[in-house]
Amino acid sequence: MRPADYSQVLRLWKAAAGVHVGVADDRAGVGRYLRRNRGMSFVAVRGGEVVGAILCGHDGRRGYLHHLAVGRLFRKMGIGKMLVGRGLTALRDCGLARCEILAINDDPGRIAFWKKAGFRAYPDVLFMAIDSRGRRGRAGRKKVYRRNRKRTQQ
Ligand SMILES: CC(C)(COP(=O)(O)OP(=O)(O)OC[C@H]1O[C@@H](n2cnc3c(N)ncnc32)[C@H](O)[C@@H]1OP(=O)(O)O)[C@@H](O)C(=O)NCCC(=O)NCCS
Repeated sequence: MRPADYSQVLRLWKAAAGVHVGVADDRAGVGRYLRRNRGMSFVAVRGGEVVGAILCGHDGRRGYLHHLAVGRLFRKMGIGKMLVGRGLTALRDCGLARCEILAINDDPGRIAFWKKAGFRAYPDVLFMAIDSRGRRGRAGRKKVYRRNRKRTQQ
């Protein structure tokens, strides 16, 4: 995947139920991801059009696949499997033994796809996240800082 593929890839992601396009997925965010994980993300192209995409990267310790999507007309042709395979090979070439995904659990077909690809679910694991800018953004963070300062002065 090249930064120039962004517009087509974004269109594909937006049309795919199960891919959550978030704040990190703007052109700058995806460009940063591709630079940090050079040559590890892939697109499938048919007739000059992007019909499949996957982001793949790692943090030095574990590998991750994100935002796998295949265009509706091109599903069940092996494209998803091929993209996952390319990602896993790229991770293995970087010496990573472990690869994780997050999947929204509202479509049995999606889960069947990942199970067929060899992924195992961990039902006891709770996925949690936080906005690192704080609950109320920058203003909220300042308030917390002032409160903490007052407390340490007492
Ligand atoms: C999930 C998705 C990527 C699968 O892509 P695909 O190109 O259709 O998958 P493939 O053709 O490579 O299928 C690989 C295997 O999974 C199976 N499979 C694929 N979709 C399936 C479904 N809906 N139900 C059951 N099995 C399915 C195929 O039969 C195939 O099995 P085989 O290896 O025994 O032949 C595609 O349906 C999609 O883009 N969905 C919307 C976005 C999404 O959910 N992405 C995942 C985010 S976590």
